[in-house]
Amino acid sequence: MIIFIISLLVFLNLFFLFFINKKKIKKILYKSKIKSVDLEKVDDIFVNNKINEKLCGPKQEVIVKNFCITANNYIVGMTSDYEAWIISSLSKISNQIFEFGTCSGKTTYLMALNSPENAQIITLTLKPENISEIKMDKFDNKISFRNIINESIYEKFLFSETKYENKIKVIFQNSLNFDEKSFSNNFDLIFIDGGHTYSIVKSDSEKSFEMLRSNGIILWHDFVPGKESAKNVVRYINNISKEKNIFHIKNTSLCYYRKN
Ligand SMILES: C[S@@+](CC[C@H](N)C(=O)[O-])C[C@H]1O[C@@H](n2cnc3c(N)ncnc32)[C@H](O)[C@@H]1O
Repeated sequence: MIIFIISLLVFLNLFFLFFINKKKIKKILYKSKIKSVDLEKVDDIFVNNKINEKLCGPKQEVIVKNFCITANNYIVGMTSDYEAWIISSLSKISNQIFEFGTCSGKTTYLMALNSPENAQIITLTLKPENISEIKMDKFDNKISFRNIINESIYEKFLFSETKYENKIKVIFQNSLNFDEKSFSNNFDLIFIDGGHTYSIVKSDSEKSFEMLRSNGIILWHDFVPGKESAKNVVRYINNISKEKNIFHIKNTSLCYYRKN
């Protein structure tokens, strides 16, 4: 009886410890295979100007146009404000930009607001009626597949009918059928944030490597080891990082690759 009570207490303790430290435990179990770096390593624009011995401040390139979406304006699939600022800053020095996955168009709008006047942004996404084209592959995560359906709900975007719309070309197409050949070595900045299933992340990434120009940057969203809906993103990036120099940006869910 005593042994039973002690075992039960040990079990309950472990059970509570697990729930209290769920995040920490997941971090240990789902260890990232890629190196996390400070934002300053991504680009010189993020290295602060020294004002005096005690104070450093932002360079002009990272002072951006921004907007926030309030919680009661329920919008799915968004980046954090910090991630949005990073993408806006990189947009300021990019003329040709490509995005996989438009959703509400929040990031697309920020790219248009901040990129040079003559910049061009192409964003590729699914309309609700395209959903039936998406099939689950055998290695695809179920939750990621369900999210594709939940996030493919917009046909009008946050930038629709604004003066920035003329910088943006929206392509409604399954990215698996998108032909990247005519865009070889074309883009300065590519943001991969479309379907998060293994087959789609792999295909979008391979197309991005082809479309990226020299010195250009690819950013992946949702690199969160341990998060169920991001499982396939993490697995793909961990796998491809054996061949490509990919880094995780500290305090974000972003990873990046820069083409030499
Ligand atoms: C996470 S949301 C994108 C969020 C957006 N980038 C932002 O920052 O606001 C994912 C988007 O990818 C699109 N998507 C998912 N699978 C796709 C596919 N196979 N081809 C094209 N778009 C896809 C969905 O329709 C949805 O709009």
